[in-house]
Amino acid sequence: MASHSHHDFDAQWWERHYQDAAGGPASQPSAQLMAEVAGLAPGTALEAGCGTGADAVWLARHGWDVTAVDVSPTAVRLARTLAAPGQSEATGRISWLVADLTVWHPRQQYDLVVSQYVHPDLPFGDFVARLADAVAPGGTLLVVGHDDRPGADRHAADRPPPAASIGPDAVVRALDPEQWDVTVAEARTRPVNHGPTQLTIADVVVKARRTPAAEAR
Ligand SMILES: C[S@@+](CC[C@H](N)C(=O)[O-])C[C@H]1O[C@@H](n2cnc3c(N)ncnc32)[C@H](O)[C@@H]1O
Repeated sequence: MASHSHHDFDAQWWERHYQDAAGGPASQPSAQLMAEVAGLAPGTALEAGCGTGADAVWLARHGWDVTAVDVSPTAVRLARTLAAPGQSEATGRISWLVADLTVWHPRQQYDLVVSQYVHPDLPFGDFVARLADAVAPGGTLLVVGHDDRPGADRHAADRPPPAASIGPDAVVRALDPEQWDVTVAEARTRPVNHGPTQLTIADVVVKARRTPAAEAR
């Protein structure tokens, strides 16, 4: 991948990305999502920046009523296709939506809001604040991203550009400590196959619970 500046990652860039990727292998559910959500009682979930939908499908299969949003119409079309075969009971619990998360206002709050590797054209703290607003009192926010520390990411052949990387502090700072109990804020490595080579890449994982008594802002 060529180098990118922040503003390159606009809706058109993502749409072209998914048009080029159409027909490629289906994405797999995220290890971080599975680890962090497995212990939660299912309810309503917002999957923000759902891409081709593997995580939305995993959530639905685990009992969540999912609203899955992405700015790329092609990603959402691919996600619907991926979700279709033989999984209608679970995928009936997914509402797919094409929307820009930098301007979209959800009509409800959710028991779980998940955003993984999404870096829209907005200061990251502002993006996290928008996600946080969509969490119902007592609900959970899970933000996963590429670790921004030098050397943390050894995915050298295709390393995410700085604009696509975050630190745990950037996420935590956006959460009002009066309203949020941060239960996870750390970098975590995972193995990734890159052709014949296995690489270790580092993710930032932040999980926080909104105080049950907090009033919706
Ligand atoms: C790196 S991909 C990650 C996809 C998926 N969450 C995953 O983990 O496989 C980033 C996703 O965010 C979406 N995205 C970027 N900016 C967005 C925006 N402003 N509103 C909604 N989705 C956006 C892209 O279309 C893309 O699907």
